[in-house]
Amino acid sequence: MAPPSLTKPTLEHLRGDQLFSGSAEPRISWKFAYDQGTASGWEQNAYEIEVSSATGNKPELFLVESSASVLVPWPRGSLKSRESALVRVRSRGTSDKSRNDYLWTEWSETASIETVLLEKQDWSAQWIASSSKPEPNANGSLQPLRFYKTFDVPSGPVSKARIYISALGVFDVHINGQQVGDEFMAPGWTCYQHRIPYRALDITSLLEAGKQNTVCVEVAEGWYYGRLGFNGGTRFIYGGDELAVIGQIEVHYTSEDSNGSPWTMVTDDSWKATPSAIQQSEIYDGETYDARNEKQNWKLLSLDGSASLNPAKTMSPPKGGLFFAKAPPVRVTETVTPIEVFRSKSGKAIIDFGQNLVGKLLVKNISLPNGERVTFKHAEVMEHGELGTRPLRIAKATDTVVSAGQDIKDWTPRFTFHGFRYVQVDNWPGELPSKDDFVAQVLHTDLQRRGYFNCSNKSVNQLHKNVVWSMRSNFVSIPTDCPQRDERLGWTGDLQVFCPSASFLYDVTGMLSDWLQDVVSEQMEEERGGIPPLVCPDILPKNWPHMPQAIWDDVTVLTPEVLYKYSGDIQLLENHFESMQTWIDKGIDRGPDGLWNSDRWQLGDWLDPRAPPEFPGDGRTDSVLVADAYLVRVTNVISQVCSILGKNDLAAKYGEDAAAHRAAFQDKYISPKGNLMSNSQTGVALAIQHGLYKNKEQLATGTASLNKLVRSSHFHIATGFAGTPIITHALTASGATQLAYRMLLEKTCPSWMYPVSMGATTIWERWDSMLPDGTINPGEMTSFNHYALGAVADWLHGTVAGISPLEPGWKTFRVRPIPGGNLTNAEASFDGPYGLIKVNWVFEEGKLSLKLQVPPNSKAVVILPSETKDTDAPPSELIVGSGLHDFSCAFNPGEWPPLPSMPAHKKAPGTDTIAV
Ligand code: BGC
Repeated sequence: MAPPSLTKPTLEHLRGDQLFSGSAEPRISWKFAYDQGTASGWEQNAYEIEVSSATGNKPELFLVESSASVLVPWPRGSLKSRESALVRVRSRGTSDKSRNDYLWTEWSETASIETVLLEKQDWSAQWIASSSKPEPNANGSLQPLRFYKTFDVPSGPVSKARIYISALGVFDVHINGQQVGDEFMAPGWTCYQHRIPYRALDITSLLEAGKQNTVCVEVAEGWYYGRLGFNGGTRFIYGGDELAVIGQIEVHYTSEDSNGSPWTMVTDDSWKATPSAIQQSEIYDGETYDARNEKQNWKLLSLDGSASLNPAKTMSPPKGGLFFAKAPPVRVTETVTPIEVFRSKSGKAIIDFGQNLVGKLLVKNISLPNGERVTFKHAEVMEHGELGTRPLRIAKATDTVVSAGQDIKDWTPRFTFHGFRYVQVDNWPGELPSKDDFVAQVLHTDLQRRGYFNCSNKSVNQLHKNVVWSMRSNFVSIPTDCPQRDERLGWTGDLQVFCPSASFLYDVTGMLSDWLQDVVSEQMEEERGGIPPLVCPDILPKNWPHMPQAIWDDVTVLTPEVLYKYSGDIQLLENHFESMQTWIDKGIDRGPDGLWNSDRWQLGDWLDPRAPPEFPGDGRTDSVLVADAYLVRVTNVISQVCSILGKNDLAAKYGEDAAAHRAAFQDKYISPKGNLMSNSQTGVALAIQHGLYKNKEQLATGTASLNKLVRSSHFHIATGFAGTPIITHALTASGATQLAYRMLLEKTCPSWMYPVSMGATTIWERWDSMLPDGTINPGEMTSFNHYALGAVADWLHGTVAGISPLEPGWKTFRVRPIPGGNLTNAEASFDGPYGLIKVNWVFEEGKLSLKLQVPPNSKAVVILPSETKDTDAPPSELIVGSGLHDFSCAFNPGEWPPLPSMPAHKKAPGTDTIAV
């Protein structure tokens, strides 16, 4: 049997196709590809890394005796700025057939890496703005600008050419008329007051040596200057009002020796600037393009020397320094074609894309008389036959094109994006537009997809699909609450509750570690007292109370820990330790008992379905109880993190604190017999999941209460942000998985399947964002694309399909599927740090058949459902190494469908509300 083959190595948390690295000593990872015929039970005991430099020096080899294959240290001296290296690896190991007979794998494919400008002094470029900026638009927004420079590139054989570039605003860059790269809304959104991301782009094939070249950078206001926030929002949050760019073009020649400096051209006052033909482009309100102001060949404008261009001026650098981000770019990842074009009740032309998504329209041809305008208004839903725009609040979400009398081909907005399924087209020439006139371009941070789920129940599959779409829609540069209304902010609580599901579906480590770094930089601002921002980047108005909040601020502790579990990156814990500790020791507002100050208002179980539309925090579970349950959890987690980091004294201290908080919680909220003060689905689920009951008797009361609460709610959901991610987990932990299935499959409102039965294609913010009669929920906070309540996906992955991480990076993972409900099959795959995991089960006539694929150098701990006993004895586990494994067992999932609790004289409902 052959050793496994290896994938191309990856560096840090970069995608395989990301060439540039901001790290001088990038850690290296490789995965194992498991194929039929590969040795089973394969484990690595050594690896060899070969590093070659681009200068053709002899490759260096580094042999390391170690089983590590994830994020192993860079083996040689630090890379310098702009240095490239080629990296390949091989691995030595044994299989369970040939213990002690160590074999080397083949060498992997070679990965290329190139460092960016690692030192501040590598930059010779200056920030530039226009010396004559256009008047602001009537609403105060800035008209985009185009910056130009024509320059001669010395002749000679070019080895590589790069542009390092950023903007105050968002930019597109063109060299000799061609767009560089495919990023949208570059450089993305960060806490600009602290740091501004820049990009490194390969322009070797676009520049012409020995000739005149032109560079054109178009800059719009984006997040830097644009209006952000609800209740009217604020413009120019980061100060100043001048669109600006910084750029440095570097050309390397093959003749240059290893210390040779590149030929360089930078932004300075020799550049020129002119207003764009885009009149305005705003994130919430949309873009207006006036073709009458367009110049022929505008991307090459400065070459012909005819245009009236204003001189650029240099400006002093902004407060935030430049840094190189790890996240992959936002780009178009898919195009969706309309399913229908129809007239609304009042006769408006509406395009239906059949999918709620985030992105922009591409219109193939616009043919209008000179001066006529066509508008495209975006919305997520129709309401009573008309475009449902009320949930957008004051965001206009409208793009406008003004014609110059000539056909405009392939028009698409450049610096805005919308959350939409429907587009209303006003003033389209002639009859109804045709479906063929449009496509929707789907946009998001182009993360690597790695987790999939599928089962025999179509509605559950649709729910899962909706979770994936809501994730894609809300991972646009930063993780946001929603993508459509005048908000789109990085609410920390939303990400915190959704992070386990997100981490399974996509490799979010790079993007979220960048974002968490921003959370820390704001948390540590002196005046904040260690309290993290509720939204990051924090753009909430200064009069918005800066208050400590459980669940949201707990992101500082819980999210690095989830990312560590999914990636195995211990540096994440090291980097975030100070932030965790600051939040726990200083930020939390405590009462004399060490728990939360009971007078502190908490968002709590936000969006409990019983909370009135206008008060989403007024759920049935006491909000301080919710915060205190979380406090016990985060204190336990920081104690575990201390142990992982070898801080044993602190681990003991936080362990004692957690025990004291747990005891205080019991005194405050649990009766001696185990009755919880807030006897609600969320309250009891929190107490079960966070181990808050004192003893077995109390726990039995808790599980019996939860059982009763679920049956007496007729399987309707009664949870918000705090309870939704854990209610099904708590039912499983209580041995009541059939109740979890029954809740999952209930179709009437409120439930997960209610939106699915209403045709939802994304996860809604409220359980009833759309009421059964087709009216939009009257609450002013009603989005149709919020991922938080989709956190149930974590239970679909971990219990229905049955795979979840045990050791960091999934080195050891758990396989514990529990079939139930009307499902006869489920499967999942996860292409984790060690390689592809696959699980598939079929349940027929009381027998479960399970197939499992385990990647080399990792292990699975398998617990078959027949092992879930009613005794205290731990279930028997089977530990298996890499390979393909089959298991089967007899299994009785229990009562199906479970009966609701109801008065004896009422007839039990039929099964027609159970989703199939
Ligand atoms: C957002 C939520 C967020 C909440 C907290 C809302 O407006 O959309 O998802 O977490 O506010 O206040």
